[in-house]
Amino acid sequence: VRAALASLGIALDTVTARSLVLYPEATVLVVAETGEDGRQHRLVPPAARAWGSLKEAAQADGVEIRIVSAFRSVERQAEIVRGKLARGQSIDQILSVSAPPGYSEHHTGRAVDVTTEGVRPLEVEFEGTAAFEWLSGNAKRFGFLLSYPRHNRYGYMYEPWHWCFKELGELQHA
Ligand code: DAL
Ligand code: ZN
Repeated sequence: VRAALASLGIALDTVTARSLVLYPEATVLVVAETGEDGRQHRLVPPAARAWGSLKEAAQADGVEIRIVSAFRSVERQAEIVRGKLARGQSIDQILSVSAPPGYSEHHTGRAVDVTTEGVRPLEVEFEGTAAFEWLSGNAKRFGFLLSYPRHNRYGYMYEPWHWCFKELGELQHA
């Protein structure tokens, strides 16, 4: 991770100043959902099971929610940041939206970015959907919490689409 940060020009101070958490990469992953494009979205088994139950309950209420992105490796996260640097964005701009490699909840295989019909994925407009309203009222029952509300302490922009599965033990402290 140190090498990845250095190669992208991200100072360790930037990371510690924002109290970002270093997440180990999940090792055991299962396919939680396959996109229409055939892309396989992977999670750790308990998160995949919880996701399946959540999705089924939403569907029963007439609400469509699908995964855009789930597990990501540290290398994949580095690639995302590298791509944005290549497109001319500054490190500060990039890190207000993307985690530095090593610090993304997506490494744990418990986080999902989701979308629904009628909106562009990964945009704040997701907040105005029935899917978001449903998640706000029900996700917690399945162990999923919104990680980055407005003005979150990590310095990320608001992400109404990013939900992370926490064990019940962890939930009681959340
Ligand atoms: N967009 C979130 C912060 C991530 O990259 O993990
Ligand atoms: Zn995310």
